[in-house]
Amino acid sequence: MSPGAGLEPAAPSRRGGWREARDRLVANPRFRRWASAFPLTRFIARRRAGRLFDLCAGFVYSQVLLACVRLRLFDLLADGPLGVGELASRLRLEPAAAERLLRAAASLDLLERRGADRFGLGPLGAAMVGDAGTTAMIEHHAILYGDLGDPVRLLRERGQGTRLAGYWPYAGTGEPGPLAEESVASYTRLMAASAPLVADEVLAAYPFQRHDCLLDVGGGDGTFIAMAARRHPRLAAILFDLPAVAAHAAARFEREGLGLRARAVGGSFRADPIPGGADVATLVRILHDHDDDVVLALLRNVHRALPPGGTLVVAEPMSGVPGVERMADAYFGFYLLAMGTGRARTPEELGALLVQAGFEAPRRLPTRIPVAAQVLVSTRSRNEL
Ligand SMILES: C[S@@+](CC[C@H](N)C(=O)[O-])C[C@H]1O[C@@H](n2cnc3c(N)ncnc32)[C@H](O)[C@@H]1O
Repeated sequence: MSPGAGLEPAAPSRRGGWREARDRLVANPRFRRWASAFPLTRFIARRRAGRLFDLCAGFVYSQVLLACVRLRLFDLLADGPLGVGELASRLRLEPAAAERLLRAAASLDLLERRGADRFGLGPLGAAMVGDAGTTAMIEHHAILYGDLGDPVRLLRERGQGTRLAGYWPYAGTGEPGPLAEESVASYTRLMAASAPLVADEVLAAYPFQRHDCLLDVGGGDGTFIAMAARRHPRLAAILFDLPAVAAHAAARFEREGLGLRARAVGGSFRADPIPGGADVATLVRILHDHDDDVVLALLRNVHRALPPGGTLVVAEPMSGVPGVERMADAYFGFYLLAMGTGRARTPEELGALLVQAGFEAPRRLPTRIPVAAQVLVSTRSRNEL
């Protein structure tokens, strides 16, 4: 057998062959001109041109949304439509600038024109009213978009010296245990704002009432535990996070009268043992932040903390799940690139890491709003040696 045997490019499959023929055709400007004029292909050509335009313009659309969020435009219109003059004065914009923003937002379904000179909420703007989580995410994207200015450099240098890496200081290679309050405060606020949407999905997907004690690893300010405890009055809970973050959670549990049922333990899951005593553990928006070596060590740490038969629930954006490909592969792909560590993994990739750490092969649980979370559930085997 020759040294290169088996490495020759595979012959194109029939389906691959068809795709290559299609690509050659669409890549030909003369064909595109013909297809946009021919009645039977005009619709496809129009749709493709529109989708490509939306990709070109996506950053501008996001900035229109950011302007609406910064100006609190959706809250302003929550009680009903207003005239352009009134809106201009409330937004402290020149009437022409206000009109420009209002028209842009209406074209994106954020607003709707209501008569010649008035604007009200559109279907997407209405969904933003009172949505503190999405609002906070949009505002912090200013940091991400700054870093994404040169995506090729980012791909070559993987998050070196980016502002986003500074925003998530635990994501680097150093040990994050000693991080101080001022380093964790802004990301903890952002996570707290967006946590209820994710927590709702996880709590609807998995029956936590089967358990006595929940351990939330990387539990942030305790939003998930507080929501779980309210929903399941017999459930006790332990939160584990970096000391400066766990302090936020401890204060929250006291404030909300959960002090007797929930406690917060500070430590680093990279350096310290995770506390035992729980029969179900959760990792909500944790694993995708880290590279495989850290994930494997963390899963082994959780495995040691759980009793045989104990359950692990993992909730985070996952690649390869139908309907959320753009969120996992484009958005999180480049978000985590800018952050400098981690990736969105497929359920199969996560399953392989779980099995390597001593868990059984996981099951995927359906969620109502997949863009908010995908969920895997696994158990520590009862039959370990
Ligand atoms: C993306 S946030 C998710 C927070 C929360 N689970 C949620 O979904 O809102 C990741 C959390 O992991 C925590 N974390 C990161 N590295 C850690 C470590 N080495 N030990 C303990 N917690 C860590 C962070 O402090 C942060 O609270």
